[in-house]
Amino acid sequence: MQFRFFPQFWQFGMCENINGVRILRPHFEKALIVEQPDPSLDRYLAELGIRAERVPPEMTERRDEVIELLREGQHDLLYKRSGFEVDEEVLEASDNLAAIMLCCIGDDSVDKEACARHGVLVMNDPISNGRSVVEMVMGEMICLARRIFEANHHSRKSMWTKESTGRYELKGKTLSVIGLGNIGKQVAQVAEAFGLNIHFYDKREVAREVGQALGWKSCSSLGEAFRTADVVTVHVSAEDPRGNSNAGMLNYEHFAQMAAERSGPSPRIFINAARGFLYDPDDLKHAVTEGHIERVAVDVYPDEPGSSDDPWDNPYATEQGVISTPHIGAATEEAQPRIAQYVANTTRLFNAYGTSRSCVFSPGQPIGVEADQAPTILTVAHSDQRGTKKAVDDAIFEAGLDNLESAHRDFPEYGFAYDVNAIDRPMNRKELKTLVETATELTGDSHAIRAVRQIPVPADDS
Ligand SMILES: NC(=O)c1ccc[n+]([C@@H]2O[C@H](COP(=O)([O-])OP(=O)(O)OC[C@H]3O[C@@H](n4cnc5c(N)ncnc54)[C@H](O)[C@@H]3O)[C@@H](O)[C@H]2O)c1
Repeated sequence: MQFRFFPQFWQFGMCENINGVRILRPHFEKALIVEQPDPSLDRYLAELGIRAERVPPEMTERRDEVIELLREGQHDLLYKRSGFEVDEEVLEASDNLAAIMLCCIGDDSVDKEACARHGVLVMNDPISNGRSVVEMVMGEMICLARRIFEANHHSRKSMWTKESTGRYELKGKTLSVIGLGNIGKQVAQVAEAFGLNIHFYDKREVAREVGQALGWKSCSSLGEAFRTADVVTVHVSAEDPRGNSNAGMLNYEHFAQMAAERSGPSPRIFINAARGFLYDPDDLKHAVTEGHIERVAVDVYPDEPGSSDDPWDNPYATEQGVISTPHIGAATEEAQPRIAQYVANTTRLFNAYGTSRSCVFSPGQPIGVEADQAPTILTVAHSDQRGTKKAVDDAIFEAGLDNLESAHRDFPEYGFAYDVNAIDRPMNRKELKTLVETATELTGDSHAIRAVRQIPVPADDS
């Protein structure tokens, strides 16, 4: 791989902040990794020329020390799973920080408003661990329907309890999937192949359209999803499509309606491998005690320990009929290396072309440009105030540059925007300063531009 030679790039590597705006390194050099994602990640990053520093497992809980590592190392990227909290203090620790790379789906451990203020992108892996969750949920569904956990418990005590009472086939039963996203849809597909009728409840228009196109019944309320099902499985994200927290979205009234409209025997199973804060565990336990729900499998809890060594007070510890597992939906030999590969690939695109895919600010299409013909990519993280985008365009124009291709996305929920421009040469420091100052002038906000990066694109040597 060859880089077109532009002397200015050497300057950019060492470029200091301009009026407090962070000028990021053209290519990333250092990554800090917390919470032990798959070890293959380090190798992938090394192949990209990024040196990975791993936080030892025992240090993960000592937050101050992790932040100190970031401060000392001035890393460009922070890789983490779902436990380590990212807040202002973390974001302030490294001036080079360009992105938080989540080696998981859930993003609620990250203060995204703070990231937007700092011009730090947040990217996750929305797909790689789905299959592992799906298979666990299907396994639990079958085991609960057939009382396999109980049979195993008896057998280990040398009890021969051979009976068919309360043991059900799933074929012909109705499954309600709450949250028909990546995982919920796969659960529904596998369950349908298994002979279950599929109902679902989702607040997203597209999800409803997809579900209905697949021949499934869209429920108009959570109550309907519970009333019409023998099995309910929850797969919502931490927030609803409008960005409101899903904390407490289910309660005793919902649970008490389980299978109310089902005729005939029903296993009345409830499974949650999504989020622990969707309901108060006492509500669920109450519904089990009252006999509304008969069998439960939970993988997630309102309070989860940070690591296997930490104490854990399982709210379901003494509950008969509740199977609990320690958030292992995605903990398989296959999923973790797959996540490392996906996140490394996201890093490759972000490092080389500024592309932001799987950006949690706005899941959906990646933002980036086809930059084969352009020697430089200019990325600008800025506020979404009127005038900031114009400042970027004007500065490119004033510098006499050709903007060969550009992509822009606003993330209005966070007052944030990200701009990717393929330009015919890098901007010098004076031109960058004009960009920052024009944005300040047009918006009256000295923090309108948050972070700028100029990436040299390798020449096509084919
Ligand atoms: N147990 C585990 O180890 C494990 C592993 C991976 C993911 N998860 C969790 O599984 C869940 C699903 O993940 P995913 O990748 O399928 O997410 P997703 O974003 O693809 O899908 C979530 C779906 O839920 C819907 N939704 C959100 N809030 C809703 C509400 N209040 N009412 C109705 N619908 C609502 C959304 O519209 C979306 O269709 C997430 O909470 C994730 O954190 C758990």
